[in-house]
Amino acid sequence: MLTIRLEKSSDAAAREALLDLAYGPVRFEKPSERLRSGRAPARGLSFVAVEQGHIVGTVRLWNVSAGPSSAALLLGPLAVDPAERCRGIGAALMRHALRAAAKAGHRAVLLAGDAAYYGRFGFSAERTGALWLPGLADKTRLLGCELIADALNGVRGATVSKTIGPSLGSNTALSNARSAKLGPGDVQIIPPGVGHGFTSIDPGGIEYLIFRIDPDHVLALR
Ligand SMILES: CC(C)(COP(=O)(O)OP(=O)(O)OC[C@H]1O[C@@H](n2cnc3c(N)ncnc32)[C@H](O)[C@@H]1OP(=O)(O)O)[C@@H](O)C(=O)NCCC(=O)NCCS
Repeated sequence: MLTIRLEKSSDAAAREALLDLAYGPVRFEKPSERLRSGRAPARGLSFVAVEQGHIVGTVRLWNVSAGPSSAALLLGPLAVDPAERCRGIGAALMRHALRAAAKAGHRAVLLAGDAAYYGRFGFSAERTGALWLPGLADKTRLLGCELIADALNGVRGATVSKTIGPSLGSNTALSNARSAKLGPGDVQIIPPGVGHGFTSIDPGGIEYLIFRIDPDHVLALR
């Protein structure tokens, strides 16, 4: 019998193996992955499909900001074991996840994917034309589904993760730390591996400026 339940921490290895099988290594290069990498999914919104003790499907949702001021969720990756496809497992996971997101009060869900598949769950590019996902070249793949009527009406701007700065932090305890409230126009740079206490920001009116530090591309000083 197929069961859909919340993911547990002990499911992580099986989930990762399933994602490797479904997508291969390119999964780490997907634009959506940049918003997910190093972050935790939205609370209570990671699900697995289990059959006879084996994980045969996975889906997770992540907190993002659609444009500067609209909270939304990003769905993905969705994957079903290749040996168990076309039995409705993907659809069951999608419906379960969307119901749970609506019940938790979320307003809208975005994803990067095929409208031919996700259209059946209410996703379309109708209201995502003025949004973009950094790195996603084909804008028609950015799809949205409103859980509350008109939640995506008029939204424009980049889809960004709601955590500011490198969210992995570090295992080093903070010492001599001061708390600071950042506002529009402030710039905070946190080098990789430096511990910090940021977990989220309120999206209201804040423009994101993201610097990526590329350790493989060091310019010589002149
Ligand atoms: C997409 C995926 C999650 C569907 O899982 P599933 O359990 O087979 O889904 P369901 O049983 O609910 O639906 C299967 C139907 O969706 C169709 N389908 C699957 N992927 C599709 C796609 N990318 N575009 C259009 N239709 C698709 C199947 O052909 C099948 O059609 P049918 O019902 O007419 O036979 C699964 O194929 C998967 O893990 N794929 C690897 C990841 C991937 O390629 N994702 C692409 C979406 S962006």
